[in-house]
Amino acid sequence: MAGNDYGWYPGHMTKSIRALREELKLVDLCIEVVDSRIPLSSRNPDIDELAKDKFRLLVLNKSDLADEKKTAEWAAYFKEMGIETLLLCAKEKKTSDAVKKASLLVCKEKIERDKKRGIVGRPIRAMVCGIPNVGKSTLINTITGKSPTKTGNKPGVTRSNQWVKTSAGIDLLDTPGLLWPKFEDKTIGFKLAAIGSVNDQVINTMQLAGESVELMDSLYPGLISEKYSLETGLSPSDCIKGIAEKKGLLLKGGELDLQKASDLFLNDLRNGKLGRITLEEPVK
Ligand code: G4P
Repeated sequence: MAGNDYGWYPGHMTKSIRALREELKLVDLCIEVVDSRIPLSSRNPDIDELAKDKFRLLVLNKSDLADEKKTAEWAAYFKEMGIETLLLCAKEKKTSDAVKKASLLVCKEKIERDKKRGIVGRPIRAMVCGIPNVGKSTLINTITGKSPTKTGNKPGVTRSNQWVKTSAGIDLLDTPGLLWPKFEDKTIGFKLAAIGSVNDQVINTMQLAGESVELMDSLYPGLISEKYSLETGLSPSDCIKGIAEKKGLLLKGGELDLQKASDLFLNDLRNGKLGRITLEEPVK
């Protein structure tokens, strides 16, 4: 991959707007999932138009990895836009009830309308949507209590599109609606790569690590030097060198293994080893 362009995505991951529009026709509620560490960059704003007639719930997922204070700011930001949010860690089984409760709450208008017409107990039909890797399948599996569905993103695998009944009066489509990231803005591709949502095999991870150090230094000054016991004020490349030294990452000839140091730093960043971090803030 050339330059600082992280905007690569396998073709089979893109799905036509028309197909998603068709699927959305089947549902009352669109549960949009984003990654709490980059709540704007991990959302495709086309969903606002696509799901404009639907009840909406925005799940700020992977909140276990994100900066709590900033997640609260994001929740307030979306609330101001009229979008209800739910902070979640989709991996945890206990979050299932929270999703059901929040879903019923955002759909209460429909439930009451049904009631007035004498329709009681008609389930809410919901669909989970979002870009790849935000945790859609994990969320569906947590809610339905099923093992992972091996359908959807891979060519030749049939999407089953089955309704799964849940205990709370919600029927959930068992395959997620796939949106694609907005790569037009280069910083979006970069942030998606930084959190590990772009296949590392197709990007220059040494460059990505350097740029991520720079971003982290601006958002969380001093954090990297503290975590790796480095001096403060180092340039991104000296930071990576410092990590290689501290961790004893050497090539056969004894030179610093900067590739390994870059990969280690990216892993630490993505897995929460540097603490809970959020890479973008709402514009105030
Ligand atoms: P997708 O359907 O939107 O593409 O995402 P998927 O559920 O496959 O989740 C992508 C990765 O994110 C998975 O990790 C999953 O375990 C992880 N994940 C989902 N929700 C959360 C969460 O709330 N917190 C954290 N920390 N991680 C979450 P993976 O490494 O690809 O798979 P695995 O090793 O966990 O099986």
